[in-house]
Amino acid sequence: MEIRLQKYLAEAGVASRRKSEELILNGNVSVNGEVVRTLGIKIDDEKDEVKVNNKPVKQQEKLVYLLLNKPEGYITAARDQFKRPCVTDLVKKVGVRVFPVGRLDYDTSGLLILTNDGDLTYKLTHPKFEIPKTYIAKLFGKLAVGDELKFKRGIMLDGKMTKPANIKLIEGGPKYYTYEITIKEGRNRQVRRMCEEVKHPVATLKRVKMGEIELGDLKKGSFRELTEKEINYLKSI
Ligand code: URA
Repeated sequence: MEIRLQKYLAEAGVASRRKSEELILNGNVSVNGEVVRTLGIKIDDEKDEVKVNNKPVKQQEKLVYLLLNKPEGYITAARDQFKRPCVTDLVKKVGVRVFPVGRLDYDTSGLLILTNDGDLTYKLTHPKFEIPKTYIAKLFGKLAVGDELKFKRGIMLDGKMTKPANIKLIEGGPKYYTYEITIKEGRNRQVRRMCEEVKHPVATLKRVKMGEIELGDLKKGSFRELTEKEINYLKSI
């Protein structure tokens, strides 16, 4: 894309637009080895090599925030050694390398955020932030009241109790019972293992909410960009 040199420098974070103009006028900037001292010129940001004081300028990548409705049968990774389909295959058309924030199992569907904002990924996946994540879990059979209490009090997994979870029956019987389960941790296969512990294994599992971000009616395999409001919310956590 063609872009004015001073704008290119400002967007790369070299200096403000005005300071970038000064750098150009002072002869600090070269394009493809030639010093440029005039302000009008445009450069091709994909082909031209721009240097300031002989150091190459690297353009900062645009930050992208996506919400994908992950289908079952995809692994939550950027690539897989066994060549299974990866969630990143579904967002290729964005043209920017993004990475999943946290994990959903191969057989789990639903809300998955993908971004190239490393700071945000770090924050959202760090245990100390305890972002509630809500799942719709279709279980074999109905939980006894005591089992529901176990979810609320905590269940022992790998010798460590889970933090209190919320659980609510939303649809029932006769074979499957559907529950809304909210957890604040992200331990490996946590919801599935909690359900196994009370002897009601998961038939299907879908994540529908993460903090205030909701999956809504996005179709399986589709994605959308997060809104400004959603991005600001995630950054404010
Ligand atoms: N809990 C699980 O068991 N699986 C997931 O994919 C997410 C939460």
